[in-house]
Amino acid sequence: MRPPPLWLPSLLLCGLGAVASSPDSFSQLAAPLKPKLHLYNDEQILTWEPSPSSDDSRPVLYQVEYSYIDGSWHMLDRLNCTDIIETKCDFTGGGRLGFPHSCTVFLRVRAKQGNRNSDWVRLDPFQHYENVTVGPPKNISVTPGRGSLVIHFSPPFDVVREATFQYLVHYWEKTGTQQVEGPFKSNSIVLGNLKPFRVYCLQTEAQLILKNKNIRRRGLLSNVSCHETTADASTRLQQVILIPVGIFILLLALTGACFILFLKYQSRVKYWFQAPPNIPEQIKEYLKDPDQFILETLDKDNSPKDDSWDSVSIISSPEKEQDDVLQTP
Ligand SMILES: *[C@@H]1O[C@H](CO)[C@@H](O)[C@H](O)[C@H]1NC(C)=O
Ligand SMILES: *[C@@H]1O[C@H](CO)[C@@H](O)[C@H](O)[C@H]1NC(C)=O
Ligand SMILES: *[C@@H]1O[C@H](CO)[C@@H](O)[C@H](O)[C@H]1NC(C)=O
Repeated sequence: MRPPPLWLPSLLLCGLGAVASSPDSFSQLAAPLKPKLHLYNDEQILTWEPSPSSDDSRPVLYQVEYSYIDGSWHMLDRLNCTDIIETKCDFTGGGRLGFPHSCTVFLRVRAKQGNRNSDWVRLDPFQHYENVTVGPPKNISVTPGRGSLVIHFSPPFDVVREATFQYLVHYWEKTGTQQVEGPFKSNSIVLGNLKPFRVYCLQTEAQLILKNKNIRRRGLLSNVSCHETTADASTRLQQVILIPVGIFILLLALTGACFILFLKYQSRVKYWFQAPPNIPEQIKEYLKDPDQFILETLDKDNSPKDDSWDSVSIISSPEKEQDDVLQTP
């Protein structure tokens, strides 16, 4: 922006001089003080401090006027900004859209008491997109994923064609250094490549881009929020594969150890496990006197034991052989 021409201050001084020399300057009502324009997201609110009080007991009212496009001043009656007692004019209150966001707007305010008016107090011109304080993205929600965080949000406010938003995510591990991802155009961001089962804190930022002016206005950071990631795919894979493999290896090692122990103490183990040759009572009796035993069994029980009969007769010979074998040495 070019600096103002040099003749401007002297012209202003002339103007002030004219006011000071005016005959009714004493009766002149004091002007409102410190007018301030609050431009936050799509809010446009003008506030000021009351004029210093005078002897006059009649109420002090205020009037606000605006000018844009055509350069002439207009009242704001429909907005309750004409002849009001409050020291505030909200151009966007009650769902009103306010001044167009890409127009340069001039504002002025003055006090009024009875038939006396103060001087107009003019504000610096403003253009909403160039003067606004951009808030953080709204409705932020963070979903922890597998070694990632998925962030959804909505833009701080609605913008028209000339403007757009881009987003940054500032994030850091609890004890780590801060990193920035972006800029993103989308309202949904995936922070990937994070470590699983770690707590990450993050803040999001919306930046207002004025396309044809090549202006980028940084926004306020959202509140810090912290989230723990879950397992990422590779960790899950590791779990899925490593746990069974681990168990298998463990069992293998145990089996191996048992086998080595067995080999080492083979003789002792044999001794423990080798039961002395033991022949069942019935067979012993049979071996003592086969004919007698068969007759006795027949007497006791006839038909139902046919099967056991057969089996006894079959078992008898191998048992006998085994007995022989065991007794040979
Ligand atoms: C203006 O202010 C009056 C009194 O405070 C209120 O009744 C009226 O609804 C307001 N009008 C608008 C358009 O805000
Ligand atoms: C708007 O921004 C311009 C340029 O930064 C500045 O000169 C002007 O004073 C601002 N307007 C208001 C009302 O703050
Ligand atoms: C951010 O934190 C401040 C103070 O803790 C709180 O007042 C405000 O509502 C928070 N903002 C959001 C969007 O949660």
